[in-house]
Amino acid sequence: MTQENITSVLVEKRTFSPSEDFVSQANLNKKEYERLKSKAETDFEGFWSELAEKNIHWFKKWDKVYQWNEPFSKWFTHGKTNVSYNCLDRHLKERANKTALIWIGENGDKRKITYGELHREVCKFSNVLLSLGVKESDRIVIYMPLIPEAVVSMLACTRIGAVHSVVFGGFSKEAILSRINDAKAKIVITSDGGYRRGEIVPLKNNVDEALKKCNSVEKVIVVQRTKNKIEMKDRRDLWYHELLSSSSEKNDAEKLDSEHPLFILYTSGTTGKPKGILHTTAGYILWATLTTKWVFDIKDSDVYWCTADIGWITGHTYVVYGPLSCGATVLLYEGAPNYPDWGIFWKIIDENKVNIFYTAPTAIRAFMKAGDEWIKKYKLTSLRLLGTVGEPINPKAWLWYHSNIGKEKCPIVDTWWQTETGGILISPLPGITAIKAGSATFPLPGIFAEVVDEKGNKTKPEEDGFLVIKKPWPSMIRTIYGDDVRYKETYWSRFKNEPAMGRAGEPAKREAVYFTGDGARVDKDNYFWLLGRVDDVLKVSGHLLSTMEVESCLVNYPLVAEAAVVGYPHEIKGNAICAFVVLKNDVTARSDSDEAAPSGIVEDLKNYVAKAIGPIAKPDQIRFTETLPKTRSGKIMRRLLRDIASGKTTSGDTTTLEDASVLEKLRTNE
Ligand code: WT7
Repeated sequence: MTQENITSVLVEKRTFSPSEDFVSQANLNKKEYERLKSKAETDFEGFWSELAEKNIHWFKKWDKVYQWNEPFSKWFTHGKTNVSYNCLDRHLKERANKTALIWIGENGDKRKITYGELHREVCKFSNVLLSLGVKESDRIVIYMPLIPEAVVSMLACTRIGAVHSVVFGGFSKEAILSRINDAKAKIVITSDGGYRRGEIVPLKNNVDEALKKCNSVEKVIVVQRTKNKIEMKDRRDLWYHELLSSSSEKNDAEKLDSEHPLFILYTSGTTGKPKGILHTTAGYILWATLTTKWVFDIKDSDVYWCTADIGWITGHTYVVYGPLSCGATVLLYEGAPNYPDWGIFWKIIDENKVNIFYTAPTAIRAFMKAGDEWIKKYKLTSLRLLGTVGEPINPKAWLWYHSNIGKEKCPIVDTWWQTETGGILISPLPGITAIKAGSATFPLPGIFAEVVDEKGNKTKPEEDGFLVIKKPWPSMIRTIYGDDVRYKETYWSRFKNEPAMGRAGEPAKREAVYFTGDGARVDKDNYFWLLGRVDDVLKVSGHLLSTMEVESCLVNYPLVAEAAVVGYPHEIKGNAICAFVVLKNDVTARSDSDEAAPSGIVEDLKNYVAKAIGPIAKPDQIRFTETLPKTRSGKIMRRLLRDIASGKTTSGDTTTLEDASVLEKLRTNE
């Protein structure tokens, strides 16, 4: 994307305002919102100071709200707090018998765990870690299915000041290996296996393989989940339940510095080598807590379900830390959305009276593809608020979600954020914002987001540009673990603030601003529209096109369930467009390259795009496929599709692929 415009075709014009009932009970009302927004603008430090004092338990108050030493920030300096204390201990007086976790296993197992019980188990496990010689700032890799012990492990690490790095349980042994080595982890916590669509994933075996090439790991702690046969290596491998049975329940949460490292999380790495994003203690838990209150409108009586795995940032901030810090009841489901059938999520919602449901657009499109009959079997009357995250939601999927799941009464919060931002930065507030389908609406109070052009100047309304954040915020990334240079280059080298007036004789100073890597547009009503990663923008015959908009257009075609668009080199046009298309379940068609393919649908689709966006966007190739290569957070790995479209062998990292067999399938489709 340069100064030129990207062709825009997002067409939904209606707005959706919250009902009076919702407004009257919302955690954040319009008056308070206006007060917070203007306080953030006029008294930035006072704003954060007020919120930190009200929302977090401090063992010792901080002396400075923040320190900015470009591009490194420190928040609430010299304060002392503890994330695990904020999520557990501070609720014990009022909520010891309240359910903290409702856990449902893929095989139908169910457990309810109260705050009192969770606290006890976390204390015991903290003592186990201490007895194994874990010291503050030691790194611990967690490679587990979505079971309560995974949450216990995370909270125990934060309690004693160890730094966790959660690796998604669906990742391969290569992925664990590179993450263990990058972080030089001392302990790995895993389980014998995990269930995935009725099969057992051999987690412990993967760890064994990886550890053949690591020398930092001293102990492996194994939770018994599937009881499949595994090898326990003498002196290295220990059973979780055995360790816990002899461990004391008494453990005082460590009084940790505000900037104590909290966790490392490797990002999806849609480009290049995965980056270890480092978050720290106080700022992170403050923003996780606040956004959960504001955006999810959490109440003590709510049952809240975010479908993310703990292996990605949504699982950290909005499965574990945010909701537990708010004292909520959190539902955890171990399984996939289509096992045993496509009705399982709706069954869980009805049976557990889920009130708040947060998922990804990719899942929503999969549900649309599966057909409405799965939804009609269930009532879904307990739901009061819906959310989405991970990618722009195309208006068609938004409207489907709104009417089929939300029954037209639930606000939908389309939350924009990143692993690096730690928590939601741009999102509707459900009791306040009039929502436009497909827009993440406005930055939250305290967040100074802007869309700028190539030179860093604010764009005019409706003009496309680059999304930047102009002021630091408490839950921001502190660095890329072990690589300050890459941190600076990736996020802080592309755009600068407009120059402040230099004092006489001094050059004007331009401060770096945080570059998100996303394209965006602000419309005439100041709504933010996200346009996907800038790296994914296509240049065709000199015109810039957002892949996301071509995709949104393709899925408007009645037979299409999902689409991914990439460019491949073309002598004349610079780039030609290749669209990988997944059709709805009951339709079959074959690709362009297949001579026997009925040309009807292929031509029809190409013309459909040409008509909606313009001839420039007409795909040169349509390839039908059953699945797309995605990261676990549902992000399409266009880099891999580009290689396929241009006939190259795949280069670069593929360890973040959710399902490694997809690439093979795509190639044999050629
Ligand atoms: C990238 C961050 C935030 C947790 C999930 C993924 C895209 C995320 C939205 C949204 C449009 C979105 C952006 C962002 N993204 N949410 N609501 N609308 N785009 O975390 O893997 O770090 O990915 O996801 O491109 O930069 P992540």
